[in-house]
Amino acid sequence: LFLSYLSLGVLVLQTTSLVLTMRYSRTLKEDGPRYLASSAVVSAEVLKIFACTLLVFIENNFSVQLLKEEIVNKPVETMKLAIPAVIYTLQNNLLYVALSNLDAATYQVTYQLKILTTALFSVSMLGKRLGFYQWLSLLFLMAGVTLVQVPADTQKILSASSQFVGLMAVLMACVSSGFAGVYFEKILKETKQSVWVRNIQLGLFGFVFGFVGMIVYDGQKVRQSGMFQGYNTITCTVVALQALGGLVIAVVIKYADNILKGFATSLSIIVSTLISYFLLEDFNPTGQASGMALWIAMSVCSLVHHFGSD
Ligand code: C5P
Repeated sequence: LFLSYLSLGVLVLQTTSLVLTMRYSRTLKEDGPRYLASSAVVSAEVLKIFACTLLVFIENNFSVQLLKEEIVNKPVETMKLAIPAVIYTLQNNLLYVALSNLDAATYQVTYQLKILTTALFSVSMLGKRLGFYQWLSLLFLMAGVTLVQVPADTQKILSASSQFVGLMAVLMACVSSGFAGVYFEKILKETKQSVWVRNIQLGLFGFVFGFVGMIVYDGQKVRQSGMFQGYNTITCTVVALQALGGLVIAVVIKYADNILKGFATSLSIIVSTLISYFLLEDFNPTGQASGMALWIAMSVCSLVHHFGSD
């Protein structure tokens, strides 16, 4: 229980910092080429594989035996992770499309629709049962989230077509997030392999698909100026935060579940709004107050309700 609370707390901080730094990194005007999003996705996978391999080594007295047994000698088990890996790779690239076309607030709020897609997949794939009040609390949560979004929309200076592209990217990411998360949960909970080994398997495929994606979409640019063109401190921070996210999310899915993960990451909206308010002073409290209040109330109700039902 302690691990599940701790991992949920770290997840809130990780999501908040990732969204803010990612948006900042995509809009920062600098001399020279901007970094390639497809390259950042690959770098994050590599970092995640390194971190998980290190964790497996530490857990097993620096022996490579377990890795060989679980990854090389069980190709069918390893292959199972190809499905979420291809979906997550697509999703990670969509996320950059979304954040290049939408402001951070609109993106974050719209992306909360994944709570609903996750619940639908949890019911259909894991046979989870949600009671009437749990469905109702999910719907209220969505309503609160939508209310928060209304004033955020009118403040924007983005073009309609850019917004459409951004919204489509987020909506696709919602479906993929729900499916991939629940699929990964099914694998983690129905088999005995350690969460780090599963993450390495996922990361290996993620790396391959991400790399292919980078060559297909940005091959020309990579050949011209290299894979790490435009990287700076902010880019490295985004990559590190994304890799950390992979680790934390795996722990959350293992010790809690995907629906709770959705509630935790939606809490990050409040955290980033507070940060905008106190540090960046670009928050208009009058417009968003009612939506925010309803949303906070419903999030708390839903969370309490969810814990209560377990
Ligand atoms: O928005 P959502 O919660 O679906 O995002 C999940 C993110 O976590 C994706 O970027 C995915 O690549 C990453 N992930 C990971 N390792 C896992 C599970 C998810 O890197 N085991």
